[in-house]
Amino acid sequence: MGYDEMADLDFHRGEVSAMQWALSQAGAPLDAENVLDVGGGGGGHSGFLAALARRVTTADLVDPNVSYGGEFLRLLKEKYARHGVELDLAKVEFQRANAMDLPYKDGLFDLVVSFNAFEHIPDPNKALREALRVTRPGGHLYITFDPIWTADTGSHFANFVPEPWAHLVMDADSFAEAMMCAGALAGQGIRHHCARFAHAWHRCQGQGGYLRADDRAEGAGQVHHHDF
Ligand SMILES: C[S@@+](CC[C@H](N)C(=O)[O-])C[C@H]1O[C@@H](n2cnc3c(N)ncnc32)[C@H](O)[C@@H]1O
Repeated sequence: MGYDEMADLDFHRGEVSAMQWALSQAGAPLDAENVLDVGGGGGGHSGFLAALARRVTTADLVDPNVSYGGEFLRLLKEKYARHGVELDLAKVEFQRANAMDLPYKDGLFDLVVSFNAFEHIPDPNKALREALRVTRPGGHLYITFDPIWTADTGSHFANFVPEPWAHLVMDADSFAEAMMCAGALAGQGIRHHCARFAHAWHRCQGQGGYLRADDRAEGAGQVHHHDF
């Protein structure tokens, strides 16, 4: 089974809708002036976020402008257009940045979001403090992520290899072999299959949380969890 672009975009659209629902439950406005997407990767949420905001900055360790030889923004716009979404490139910006040391001044953003990135960040507490720092007082922070990588359930491939911590204790070859024994598609390349699987299917729903910037006094680790 190859990459399904429409399913991928629909998935990201659904995640932004879930975010809007959570923010509405928090009494937050559903539009924002200035949004930061931490660990936003290849911009799967940018088009949907840009429809709600004046400006969307995506900060990720990987700069997609480099990965796609300078063609990234054009390709992203075309991708969204193929599915009826008009992406205004004047509203979006992709920057290389480390979530644990964001290059932005305090309180710059009205809304800071992060989808499925925190489980990959070595010090998620530090990243949370940084996300809070750059959220303006009274602004909002929305973070959703799978179990962190070092948890027993932290593998993105538990559907194939269900043993807890298997992704940490097995070496790469043994893990790939276990994946293939469980039905992963060796013909397409195990890495490709794993990547697609991680990005499209194996989300642990119900891990989302929001935090009003006013709640800082409670401490950066205090995120209100809601099932959705
Ligand atoms: C599973 S991808 C999610 C991408 C996107 N948010 C999505 O849901 O499609 C995780 C992303 O986190 C980024 N990432 C990991 N560690 C990071 C860090 N310390 N700072 C910024 N981005 C990071 C990775 O480069 C990757 O793009």
